[in-house]
Amino acid sequence: MTVKSGKSDKDFSIYFQPPSYKDAKKRGKEDIEVLYDFNIPVEMKEFGQGKRYMIRTYGCQMNEHDTETMKGLLEQLGYTSTEDKQEADVILLNTCAIRENAEDKVFGELGHLKHLKIEKPHLVLGVCGCMSQEEGVVKRILQKHGHVDLIFGTHNIHRLPALLHDAYLSKEMVVEVWSKEGDIIENLPKKREGMRAWVNIMYGCDKFCTYCIVPYTRGKERSRRPQDVLAEVRDLARQGFKEVTLLGQNVNAYGKDFEDLTYGFGDLMDDIRKIDVPRIRFTTSHPRDFDDRLIEVLAHKGNLMEHIHLPVQSGSSEVLKKMSRKYTRERYLELVGKIKAAIPDVVLSTDIIVGFPGETDEQFEDTLSLVKEVQYDFAYSFIYSPREGTPAAAMEDNVPMEVKKERLQRLNDAIATYGKEGNEKLRGQIVEVLVESESKRNSEVLSGRTRTNKLVHFTGPKELIGSFAHVLVTEPQTWLVKGELVEKPLQISI
Ligand code: 5AD
Ligand code: SF4
Repeated sequence: MTVKSGKSDKDFSIYFQPPSYKDAKKRGKEDIEVLYDFNIPVEMKEFGQGKRYMIRTYGCQMNEHDTETMKGLLEQLGYTSTEDKQEADVILLNTCAIRENAEDKVFGELGHLKHLKIEKPHLVLGVCGCMSQEEGVVKRILQKHGHVDLIFGTHNIHRLPALLHDAYLSKEMVVEVWSKEGDIIENLPKKREGMRAWVNIMYGCDKFCTYCIVPYTRGKERSRRPQDVLAEVRDLARQGFKEVTLLGQNVNAYGKDFEDLTYGFGDLMDDIRKIDVPRIRFTTSHPRDFDDRLIEVLAHKGNLMEHIHLPVQSGSSEVLKKMSRKYTRERYLELVGKIKAAIPDVVLSTDIIVGFPGETDEQFEDTLSLVKEVQYDFAYSFIYSPREGTPAAAMEDNVPMEVKKERLQRLNDAIATYGKEGNEKLRGQIVEVLVESESKRNSEVLSGRTRTNKLVHFTGPKELIGSFAHVLVTEPQTWLVKGELVEKPLQISI
């Protein structure tokens, strides 16, 4: 449904279901269709001739990949890209709702863009991504950011051409947000750049961790059919991509929604490892669904990288229960043990939330001790941020912000210690690096990643960008390792 509005007092609630734990959990398996016949309407094909677009992307790789789809769509309309706001005819903000500070950034940017919109009234300013799936956010934009022309949700991306058309013609704000997930549309165009590609294997999440907004903003779990994923990866191999990252909010649930097929993530990885792409990665895993079949397949290594991002969130079984993560500390450690036994040189990374409502000092100590036990090479840590409509937002939170900040600091210190220790192990070894770019700070220095996803800096010719190099690690640091370019060795360590 599309609505148009100025800063009107219309009731928009009919277009959204505010995140409702109860309603969302009732969702069934019905109704998802896979469509293969997406087309840009003929009358729209010239629509963007001579016009420029700019997309600003916030948040995770799923959003980055959605941006590639929107770029693909816009370029099929004839638009070309620009990095300069002043030049842009269309600016889209592809937003993230995972924590409050992500949302604050977007509202800040909307404030700045107001001046540009006054200078350039023909500019179309759009907000899309996860924030547009939240009723509260849409209301706030309608009330306070009337200079926005277009809001569309994560299930409406394929509608971008028609929505842009409406936004140009209309003097009022165009809003299209489907609260119910849409179908899977297979043949949307994508504009990929560089030598690394993302491939969605599934959409949505049904895990409903109590702190998380994603099951509401991204809808229920829908897996792409294996033949479609495999065809896309084969095509990327033919095009010469060096690395493919498979994407899903919870890749380990891949295939659980197939009613006619028993085929899970392990099976998919087993088929993908036979395709000629040098590096395959995946993100994100949920420990609960990480099964033995997958471990067995990953242990073949080859083009399957020995890095696993395995979010733990907390080291306390009590907190994990309140988070509804559906595993205990012991089960998580058991899984880590199995993975390390099958893939001895595996590198593990994780996500951790501190200051979950009611987290005690003791429970936080459990997180620190788990970090010590697992020895992650890197980890992302966050202070818990209440998200409206999620169960945790209604839990009593008696932990003062000062305490949360202190805990975050202690956790970060621990993570840094193990990060440095992990990198130190590489000293004197030769690693295979996929060279990605010049380093941001110094154009003489090249930057790339090891199989285990560690950042490597070394001096070398620019021509190496996009290919593999061998680097002797001379100076391991906390978040990166420095090294020297060497000839290809007979045997590579990692
Ligand atoms: N507050 C803080 N961190 C969160 N994450 C998800 N929701 C929240 C929240 N409400 C973190 C989790 C997740 C990562 C992507 O973001 O650690 O794994
Ligand atoms: Fe959010 Fe990940 Fe939990 Fe899904 S599995 S609810 S995306 S934290």
